[in-house]
Amino acid sequence: MNRPSRSQALFEQAQRFFPGGVNSPVRSFAAVGGTPRFLVRGQGARVYDADGREYVDYVGSWGALIAGHAHPAIVDAIERTARNGTSFGAPHPAELALAERILRAMPGIEMLRFVNSGTEAVMSAIRVARAWTGRDLILKFDGCYHGHADGMLVRSGSGALTLGIPSSGGVPRATAALTLVAPYNDVEAVHRLFARHPDDIACVVLEPVAANMGLILPQPDFLASLVEVARRHGALVIFDEVITGFRVAPGGAQGRYGVRPDLTCLGKIIGGGLPVGAFGGRADVMQRVAPLGDVYQAGTLSGNPVAMAAGAAQLDVLAQPGVYERLEERSALLATGLGEALAGRATIARCGSLIGICFADGPIENADDVRRTDAAAYATFFHALLDEGVALAPSPYEVAFVSCAHSPDDVRFTVKAAAAAAARLSGARR
Ligand SMILES: Cc1ncc(COP(=O)(O)O)c(C=O)c1O
Repeated sequence: MNRPSRSQALFEQAQRFFPGGVNSPVRSFAAVGGTPRFLVRGQGARVYDADGREYVDYVGSWGALIAGHAHPAIVDAIERTARNGTSFGAPHPAELALAERILRAMPGIEMLRFVNSGTEAVMSAIRVARAWTGRDLILKFDGCYHGHADGMLVRSGSGALTLGIPSSGGVPRATAALTLVAPYNDVEAVHRLFARHPDDIACVVLEPVAANMGLILPQPDFLASLVEVARRHGALVIFDEVITGFRVAPGGAQGRYGVRPDLTCLGKIIGGGLPVGAFGGRADVMQRVAPLGDVYQAGTLSGNPVAMAAGAAQLDVLAQPGVYERLEERSALLATGLGEALAGRATIARCGSLIGICFADGPIENADDVRRTDAAAYATFFHALLDEGVALAPSPYEVAFVSCAHSPDDVRFTVKAAAAAAARLSGARR
């Protein structure tokens, strides 16, 4: 009998400590089968598991690490800052430094508040929208993921889609009833919902590029039409740019597509790998937040200097000339290579350094299209790639994140591995 790997032994132990052995569901490999690799080190584009195996990594802490693992400037900023204290629960200059960088880049943010996760950012932005409009209903899109606040777990993407949980247990029916849902890219459905509830919808919240049901790009005019219809009905528009912020362009999706929301949520990249989120937007709306206004929102560790310094350091890496052009170039190379390797089997989508691999025929425009995914084919492809030394997300509904650390050689290695993995798919589909 083979000895269990170190990852297998650790995972066995972890099941006693954590539900499913993990502290966030998709990590468990439930969608692809097998044992998750325990990672012990990351450097640039590569991660190393507890058994000493090396992988070219396209998870990048779910998009947070756009500069790559253990970037020296970010590690240095963390070390230097931590030496003077990790958290004060009092204002700190590092908060200003990160805020300045965000305000400079994001067209729709005039004022913001730092929190500790994307979930908190969306939850708080919705509270502000409800207070501003005096309305209770929110409108979201099928398959978009906005973190795990109760009202957002209605027809949600990411883990909820991965694990086939359309909504979550423990969400009161009365809370779920306040969330209206439309298909992504369907402005007519949004018109119909506003016609049915003309004075009751506080906000439309969406991922301006949907990246939690694979990758779905907004169709031309989708974003602008949404803003128009919401404004006409006195509702706010919230762009959840937790993934797309500083990812698809320096100004996020709102910069890339030239559409300005009322409020924006950020996370992931702005924390440089530490827990940071933010919500912000129009100054008049943000002035409703306590202590200026009546919307309560707070956090013990919010704006702590170490996380702020890590975020600022990562944004400084991104501000260097040519970074986004290089990301775009390498990602295009990878998407083309994957497309060739998986020709006739999967549809490849790309927006900047986000790449979606959907094992279904196109067009893929909404969650129903994504539900046609051949999840078994993805699982086979995923494991074959892992054997070749390439780590994709362990779910068919997540995207691949390319980082500044991925070199052309890494991309070529990945494409070669994908061709070998695709060969193993024969028989899995068609
Ligand atoms: C678009 C989007 N919004 C919100 C969240 C929640 O962020 P967090 O996991 O930091 O709470 C995520 C997480 O993946 C996300 O992708």
